[in-house]
Amino acid sequence: MRIVLVGPPGAGKGTQAQFIASHLSIPKISTGDIFRANVSGGTDLGRKAKEYMDRGDLVPDEITIAMVRDRLAEDDAQGGFLLDGFPRNVPQAETLKKILDEFGVRLDIVLELVVDEDEVVRRLSGRRTCTKCEKIWHVDFDDKQDDICDDCGGRLFQRDDDKEEVVRHRLEVYKEQTEPIVQFYGDEGILVRIDATGPVDEVTARALDALRRSE
Ligand code: AP5
Ligand code: ZN
Repeated sequence: MRIVLVGPPGAGKGTQAQFIASHLSIPKISTGDIFRANVSGGTDLGRKAKEYMDRGDLVPDEITIAMVRDRLAEDDAQGGFLLDGFPRNVPQAETLKKILDEFGVRLDIVLELVVDEDEVVRRLSGRRTCTKCEKIWHVDFDDKQDDICDDCGGRLFQRDDDKEEVVRHRLEVYKEQTEPIVQFYGDEGILVRIDATGPVDEVTARALDALRRSE
């Protein structure tokens, strides 16, 4: 399947993407993860992206789109993929359509994770990510007493853009630039909204159910 996950910062896209992609044996393509890996690796791309990410702004389309085009052309993405964090504005959605047209394929479904703003702020303020296996944790909901990953023993870190003022700006950017793609995919007839509140495994079950129905 070819899937896009959309939703505000902190909706649980990364969390759900891990489970859905492994359940369907398709690659998870997260533009945020790719940018962060480039920032920590000190690459040219990372240096270009960092100033935008630190402010909570979108990285310019020409940088982001070229990166996604290359990733989608890789062998493991030919049988399907799950995109997390892309597209994030209407020009990116239109370009994705053109790229997939060139490949002779199309998206099957766009899943919108719906969650209110207070919950998003709560989730992001307690988020920790594993430096080694990239698993996402939450200090309260996962009852983390230390900063060690229970899965792999790696050290957990807090993202720079999870500071409160940056989170608020990311939410504004989402409303202004990303929400219009919900309408775009609604018009295409492939948008499915799911309630992203409640325990992680319940949200996963709702997501997998929506994917089965769309087949
Ligand atoms: P990106 O990494 O994509 O960030 P985001 O969209 O803001 O989303 P988040 O990763 O913050 O949240 P999430 O929905 O994945 O939530 P998570 O699962 O972690 O982008 C970062 C930056 O990169 C952007 O600001 C931009 O600069 C740049 N960028 C990326 N893509 C771009 C693009 N296409 N174009 C231009 N620029 C781009 O969950 C959050 C927390 O909640 C975790 O602690 C988790 O454990 C917890 N949690 C999750 N689900 C639940 C649940 N059901 N109940 C309780 N807690 C939960
Ligand atoms: Zn880990």
